[in-house]
Amino acid sequence: MFLPSLVILGVVQAVFGKTQLYGMNIAGFEFGCEITGTCPLDTIQPPLKSLGFGDGAGQMDHFVKDDGMNVFRLPVSWQYLTNNVIGPLDKTNFGNYDLLMQACLKTGAYCVIDIHNFARWNGGIIGQGGPTDEQFADLWTQLATNYASNPFVIFELMNEPHDIDLTAWVASCQAAVAAIRKAEKVLHIVLLPGENFSSAGTFLTSGWGAALATVTNPDASTTNLVLDLHKYEDVDNSGDHPDCVMDNVADTFEPVAAWLRKNKRQAILSETGVGVTSESCFVDFCAQNTAINANSDVYLGYIAWTAGSVTSDYILDLAPTLTGTKWVDQKMTIQCVIDLWVNAPAGPAAPDWGLALGTALAAIPSSTGGSAKRSSSVVVSTSSSGAVSTPTAIVTGTGKSGSASGTQTSASPSDTQTKTPNSANGVKFASGLMACSLILAVILL
Ligand SMILES: *[C@@H]1O[C@H](CO)[C@@H](O)[C@H](O)[C@H]1NC(C)=O
Repeated sequence: MFLPSLVILGVVQAVFGKTQLYGMNIAGFEFGCEITGTCPLDTIQPPLKSLGFGDGAGQMDHFVKDDGMNVFRLPVSWQYLTNNVIGPLDKTNFGNYDLLMQACLKTGAYCVIDIHNFARWNGGIIGQGGPTDEQFADLWTQLATNYASNPFVIFELMNEPHDIDLTAWVASCQAAVAAIRKAEKVLHIVLLPGENFSSAGTFLTSGWGAALATVTNPDASTTNLVLDLHKYEDVDNSGDHPDCVMDNVADTFEPVAAWLRKNKRQAILSETGVGVTSESCFVDFCAQNTAINANSDVYLGYIAWTAGSVTSDYILDLAPTLTGTKWVDQKMTIQCVIDLWVNAPAGPAAPDWGLALGTALAAIPSSTGGSAKRSSSVVVSTSSSGAVSTPTAIVTGTGKSGSASGTQTSASPSDTQTKTPNSANGVKFASGLMACSLILAVILL
């Protein structure tokens, strides 16, 4: 009804049903990382029962089986992976991180490697006085080599860069992407983080979105290069306060979606969280994630912050609690993360610059020499054939009943400004009219 007129006005209000991916952060391997990129090893709490901390493996298994989640983000510090020396991966430490990765992959979900260093190593900015672009690229060569053949591993180049020279940072990311494409045997999804702590709120205003969008594959395409967004809802967008004051819809996620649509690109909201007991946060977090789902042609997914080695004294604690043999989700997780996704109408298929779960993948750029057949993976395509794909969604159940889990300290990420992280730190779509409008919209774009 309203759609056709909006299309005529050139304002496309997408009503895509739900994102292809949704899930949870599993924090712990990054605990203690400061925004200076200083990451002590003795504050790390690997989110694995076998290593003495949160039961990340059990949590992920529950989130997939009971809630239908299909992506997890696994933060880790660079220092941990290489045992405090820039260079080769440390066998023991990387081995421990890989235990979490394998537990994630075993669930059938996509698993994001997040290097939680704020574009830094002990105060020095990558490619800007700190580690060189070559050293940064070498880290990614090693990681891409280890997961070369598994398309379910997603590479997030860096957590929350800030106070950087944007042009130089784009070059650092370009170096890392080139290294990854050379080392991998299947075309992985790579997440490109921007300025201002990857803030979705400054994606347009600071120009970091357009800048990072210039990063390309060796064949000059941007296939499977996804822009990485973070966003919180408290007063300074840091995630450090219990109450919410913004839902980020009209001022952030709608305009960013319009930009992405116009430029035929995708983004993922890989970190977003709220004070889990505040009434204002139930309202704002549900509103935000509803908007993300409604723009699923350009938003690949959302990943909530956080479960893992967190406990109930952390205001953003979304870890489920194990009661007997039953995992119980928190109310905030159920209402504003799970149910919004599970109950969302599947909506119309995304245009082909969106994502296709379960379709054949794009060819590996020939310069990498790869030729492996890949399947069952998300492909972000930038071709413009106009074909549409059918999104599929894993829905295995809904979580019910909430409770708080029980001591901790997490590195709470942040967004814009001066914040200090915590120290220790489907269904056919209903309306044919809508379908016509969307097709029209795609054509007009
Ligand atoms: C975003 O980053 C730029 C460059 O570092 C900085 O000048 C600007 O103040 C930042 N904006 C916000 C809202 O933090």
